[in-house]
Amino acid sequence: MNKKNESIRGMHDYLPNEIMIWNHVENLLKKILFSYCYREIRLPVLEHTKLFNNTIGNNTDIFEKEMYSFQDRKNNQLTLRPEGTVGCARASIQHNLLINKEQRLWYLGPMFRYERPQRGRYRQFYQMGAEAFGFKGPDIELELILLTASFWKKLGIDKYLILELNSIGSIHIRNQYKKDLLKFLQINESFLDHASKCRLHTNPFRILDSKVESTQVLLKKGPQLSNYIDENSAFHFKKLCCFMSDLEIIYTINNNLIRGLDYYNDTVFEWKTNKLGSQNTICAGGRYDQLIETLGGPNIPAVGFAIGMERLILLIKEVSSFTMLYFIDIYILVFNDSFKLSSIKLSEFIRHKFPTLKIMINFHGGNITQQFRLANKHNARVALLLGPEEQKKESILIKNLINRKQKIVLKTQLIEELSFLL
Ligand code: HAM
Repeated sequence: MNKKNESIRGMHDYLPNEIMIWNHVENLLKKILFSYCYREIRLPVLEHTKLFNNTIGNNTDIFEKEMYSFQDRKNNQLTLRPEGTVGCARASIQHNLLINKEQRLWYLGPMFRYERPQRGRYRQFYQMGAEAFGFKGPDIELELILLTASFWKKLGIDKYLILELNSIGSIHIRNQYKKDLLKFLQINESFLDHASKCRLHTNPFRILDSKVESTQVLLKKGPQLSNYIDENSAFHFKKLCCFMSDLEIIYTINNNLIRGLDYYNDTVFEWKTNKLGSQNTICAGGRYDQLIETLGGPNIPAVGFAIGMERLILLIKEVSSFTMLYFIDIYILVFNDSFKLSSIKLSEFIRHKFPTLKIMINFHGGNITQQFRLANKHNARVALLLGPEEQKKESILIKNLINRKQKIVLKTQLIEELSFLL
């Protein structure tokens, strides 16, 4: 294909085989969200650019360098959403979801950031996020952490993820800390690595994430955010840590965890893995009690998280044998053209009894050996054949394509025989 017609760098097509895994994972996550009473909200991918001013932070990498912003035909300044929290808060205010009410909401959809693409980092990527509005205490943070922990457990990846937690205090205190940190780093600029020197004038907090040892040694001598935290924030965090210990949730406190968005206060957390190289955060979130008021809504506390779906799926593929997903449950072989109609009737009969099973009929003909080969190629679990012999005896041939055993059963017994597929 002409390169010019290929998809945009960092924006990918997800093909049917890949989507099978996505659907499986999404369905599982949705079930857990429902069990915690989170309700779905669907939001536009385009928002007014000004929505992201003073919310995600005007000096953050996202706001300064990564937003896809443009003017529409009426000169409105618009932006493809770089994340879902701000849009979710905007919609909740706009539709009065927050008046005297608490809300637990979730969303799933594409986000857009003009970042340098690499494995696990894309320009269009999917987030599944959950936001809880109207809860003040640390119990809601605990609930969100338990909820995410049950995602990993159900997906069988819990042992590959670790939870990092921090309290970053109030926005006011963090600004004070930022000033002091900047002053310290400017005095010691000559000891910083090259990347950190560049960040000094754009986003000094990102220096805290530096992997360069000499920079980390220097940072230890500088101001520490934990010394700025006030009593209320410290109490909130202590309570959360007690809850977590009580429930035996394993976590580490990372004092350098500040997060790349400005709206957070108090608790922040990230689920990380060591299986994916540098793009190792699968899920991230925290508390953002001022955001709703900043957007013109009531003074309501809020907390949430978002999972990077591509990273989650990369991790699942890395550590589990997920390719064994069967797309088709039953593949119906057609003996010859005169058996087409009876095979269709057979498929409708089974669908009626078992509406969740995936049934495919081979309409392309071919000899029976070729048709069995096709059934295997489609990764079917069971093949059924209704040929002249079977028809005479009012029976069907069932072949289990996983253990390769086959038998002929009476039509009246068919449904019972297939029930193991449910
Ligand atoms: P975030 O840390 O910017 O937070 O993104 C959340 C997750 O989205 C990341 O941990 C990562 O897994 C994934 N992600 C971010 N950027 C990319 C990218 N370029 N390519 C692939 N995956 C990416 C937020 O967006 C907050 N809104 C989370 C939140 C919700 N906080 C409170 N509520």
